[in-house]
Amino acid sequence: MSFPERRLRRTRHSPAMRRLVRESHLVPSQLVLPMFVREGLSEPAPIGSMPGVVQHTLDSLRTAAVEAAEARIGGLMLFGVPATRDACGSGADAEDGILNVATRAVAAEVGDELVVQTDLCLDEFTDHGHCGVLDARGRVDNDQTLRRYEAMALAQARAGSQLLGLSGMMDGQTAAVRAALDAEGFTDTGILAYAAKYAGAFYGPFREAVDSQLTGDRRTYQLDPANGREGVREAVTDVAEGADVVMVKPALPYLDVLAEVRRAVDVPVWAYQVSGEYAMIHAAGANGWIDGRAAMFEALLGIRRAGADAILTYAAVDAAGWLREQL
Ligand code: PBG
Repeated sequence: MSFPERRLRRTRHSPAMRRLVRESHLVPSQLVLPMFVREGLSEPAPIGSMPGVVQHTLDSLRTAAVEAAEARIGGLMLFGVPATRDACGSGADAEDGILNVATRAVAAEVGDELVVQTDLCLDEFTDHGHCGVLDARGRVDNDQTLRRYEAMALAQARAGSQLLGLSGMMDGQTAAVRAALDAEGFTDTGILAYAAKYAGAFYGPFREAVDSQLTGDRRTYQLDPANGREGVREAVTDVAEGADVVMVKPALPYLDVLAEVRRAVDVPVWAYQVSGEYAMIHAAGANGWIDGRAAMFEALLGIRRAGADAILTYAAVDAAGWLREQL
């Protein structure tokens, strides 16, 4: 044979060689932990469908935030669960609203060690559970909702949030929030646009986590799972409107979108491994059907390989611990 035979396995023989040729890496600083804080709670409350995840009290949130900082993860994403709700979600921008109170506490505690981020959306605060306010016919009113997001953005920025997670999927939300922040001098507060957020079944456990009041679905504002190009269009639009980071969500069923978005924009691209993805891996692992830890790693690495610079995952602190064990 004149041609040298292609020996593709040569770079796989030893652990040292495999390590040297590895293309993707996972490090704790690329992980962001979503956390829930519930108003009026006296003890942390476990979330049945998400083993290991709880609704925090203000105190337990602060303690867990310190632990996350000690695990050297990259950031926290805070969600608030209010005691009372109304049609316009007034708890969202109230200074004493649970999310704003929690943000102030967490930012003061760990704001120099990791990036304190907040979910900017109305669904936890509205009595109908939609991500925006409704018009007379009961439909989500895009532009009235933007006014609410602007107020919420200012409240969160004042509370010390460093990066606002715009997850409501209203048109023009990034531009509206950017302008509102700049007008009040919050020019250093960043925007993480949940640019390509798909309407689907993987948010089930999250709805338990925030006691969601939603009865219908979010298909008039979140993306159709069938549409990849539309997800890229959303991301490109958000960058044009001033997003500092864009996100694809959920992660695992949308790796193609993630890869396309990565190619289409030059800002950081993140992915959200959502509650249903976490719950599936956890449940199968608990049943002994898969190795839960290995599967979690494989999923996170796959999300990185597809193009995510960072990942929001409920396993952030666990994964950071496992990564340290491997060193
Ligand atoms: C909206 C929001 C949702 C999630 C994050 N932000 C719920 C939804 O769109 O229904 C879901 C996150 C998860 O499932 O882990 N505020």
